[in-house]
Amino acid sequence: MKILAIETSCDETACAIVEDGRCVLANVVDSQIDLHRQYGGVIPELAAREHLDMAAPVVEEALKQANLSLGDIDAFAATLGPGLVGALLVGVQSAKTLAFMTGKPFIGVNHLQGHIASNYLESKLAPPFICLLVSGGHTQLLKVTAPQQIELLGETLDDAVGEAFDKVARLMGLPYPGGPQVDKLAKQATGQFKFDLPVAKTQGEFDFSFSGLKTAVSRQIEKLQQEFADEPTQLQTAYADLANAFQKIVVKALSHRVLKAVATFEMNTVVIAGGVAANTELRSYFENWQASAPEINQFYSPQFVYCTDNAAMIASAAYFSPFTYALDADVFSREAVYK
Ligand code: KG4
Ligand code: ZN
Repeated sequence: MKILAIETSCDETACAIVEDGRCVLANVVDSQIDLHRQYGGVIPELAAREHLDMAAPVVEEALKQANLSLGDIDAFAATLGPGLVGALLVGVQSAKTLAFMTGKPFIGVNHLQGHIASNYLESKLAPPFICLLVSGGHTQLLKVTAPQQIELLGETLDDAVGEAFDKVARLMGLPYPGGPQVDKLAKQATGQFKFDLPVAKTQGEFDFSFSGLKTAVSRQIEKLQQEFADEPTQLQTAYADLANAFQKIVVKALSHRVLKAVATFEMNTVVIAGGVAANTELRSYFENWQASAPEINQFYSPQFVYCTDNAAMIASAAYFSPFTYALDADVFSREAVYK
């Protein structure tokens, strides 16, 4: 079964064709990062307009990459949300139109379920597993017992972890999106500067909180800016150490809850998903689970290209959770697959 999916929830216009939920035949992502960078974040109106321009070209390119024509596609899917409404409308309407033209079904996909499904791409992963979903908008811990049976164990009470990365980067004068920049900067850490950063305690044992950490880091940045006002090289060295300390404490906070869930539910396959799953510190912690977390016995992470927003993950989720809609259905009123 070949599904063509369109993803336009934020600032990527993406189209992919995936066979049987796992085999990627085409994956096209047109990023709007350069457009939004000058504003330091995504401008919803500009994003929607750009999607309108790029929706048809990405579909055309995906078909070309897969060497297929519209008639070879078995179903068309699009992200229903969560995301920017104007942006989502473009992808949904595009996929519905393709379904109408070909007489094939239209499948609506929850974006977060798409991120989870990115782990099914080019892999043999099957539930049950514990999933840590870390993106720019969400930080959730999930118990997945079947592709459609997803239980929310806990989530952030304030900032998403990607949001914290982006904020720290901005305060250090690094461009949007900040996560990859902080990741890169942390690699230059020398250990010359030490920082004592807090891990927030939360009432719910699987919940997260990052606003206190974000504030602590921003205070450190202010202090360093004063201390090294005339020494830019020292300031950069201190920033690298601070970026490293920040990343390490984030990984500690995330992994602590993951391991608690592993022990509580006796599910020892761990999966990470979302843009922050591209973070090298987080990946290396879990990739080295034999040393760092022996209670885990299998770990999956998406390939880098499938961590940040893409349509291959939407096509995979559409295959494993095929919620089809009549073309006149009120697609946005459907409840999320999990709460
Ligand atoms: O999943 P995603 O593309 O979009 C949402 O659904 O939110 O995630 C984007 C987020 C941004 O906050 C970005 O800074 C973060 O993922 N990110 C990273 C890295 N690569 C992307 N954060 C930390 N380290 C990275 N290497
Ligand atoms: Zn996303």
